Amino acid sequence: MEGLKVLISEEEIQKRISELAKQICDDYKGQDITFICILKGSIFFTVELAKKMPCDINFEFIRVSSYHGENSTGVIKMKVDLQGDIKDKNVIIIEDIVDTGRTLSYLKEYLKSKEPRSLKICSMLDKKERRVCKLDADYVGFNIPDKFVVGYGLDVDEKYRNLPYIGVVEFEEENS
Ligand code: IMP
Ligand code: MG
Repeated sequence: MEGLKVLISEEEIQKRISELAKQICDDYKGQDITFICILKGSIFFTVELAKKMPCDINFEFIRVSSYHGENSTGVIKMKVDLQGDIKDKNVIIIEDIVDTGRTLSYLKEYLKSKEPRSLKICSMLDKKERRVCKLDADYVGFNIPDKFVVGYGLDVDEKYRNLPYIGVVEFEEENS
């Protein structure tokens, strides 16, 4: 795709997701798991990960909006809330990317209040350099540098989500 450089190929993603699936299965030893998919970015990752797991998985969905950029207030708004009960469930939040950590810090506290049996975070990507909140994911697909990435669910203005790989957007230099 024009203006995009491949950072992580489709093959690398598939291989890493298989490894994560195995690691999670080993950790949970056949217990039921509830995946909470954070819309919209995590849909591809959630589906691919779940398809590789032999245990029973329940799916829940949450959609939040966060405000980033220079005037970021760090305010997170719930757009689509949980439908099911997660009390006493083994919950894993499935996220596309951890950036500042604000979204997941908020969601972790929110979901803790619903009293799950356990609560972990699995993120496909992690941009550690950008963190402003103390937040660690329990499972991470790839650590990446501080670059704006798209594909495999990630977008820029709703574009590129359906790319089967992770690409870096090469923003055009403005002519002065
Ligand atoms: P955080 O609250 O700053 O950790 O932001 C997490 C959210 O910001 C992610 O769920 C993405 O929706 C978005 N985001 C952060 N970095 C990127 C990126 O490089 N590409 C696309 N979306 C991103
Ligand atoms: Mg997201």
